[in-house]
Parts: sequence; C-alpha cells; structure tokens
Amino acid sequence: MKVTIDPQRCQGHGRCYDLAPELFGEDDEGYGRVLGDGVVPPGGERAARVAAANCPERAIVLAEE
Ligand code: F3S
Repeated sequence: MKVTIDPQRCQGHGRCYDLAPELFGEDDEGYGRVLGDGVVPPGGERAARVAAANCPERAIVLAEE
C-alpha cells in the first residue's frame, strides 16, 4: 500500500499526522505531507486507513500495490 496527499484538497486539519505520525508529517504551514516515499510499512495499513478515513477533506489517497 502507498499513501499520497492531494495538495489541492489538503486544508491542514492535521488529523493525518496526529493519527499516523509514522506515515505523515506537517510542513511549515501545518499542511500534511507524506513521510519518505509513502510506502506503508508492514503492519501500517490500518493506521493508513484510519488517517484516510479521518481526513475531512478526503485528501489522503490510498493505493494498493
Ligand atoms: Fe491535510 Fe487531511 Fe491531513 S486536510 S493535514 S491531509 S488530515
């Protein structure tokens, strides 16, 4: 699984990096960003799904690989 954030949709709600800090961080303005290359490590799928489900802007895109 791989995660990306659609920068057109992200409004900086911050739930992604609160809920899954191992996958997401924040930029200088509080917008979410994917850490590293966005590939979800083994066991991280649930956190990725929780983060995606809790983004009010539906900005987090999950891609199954
Ligand atoms: Fe942005 Fe959604 Fe995270 S709006 S900061 S991707 S919770």
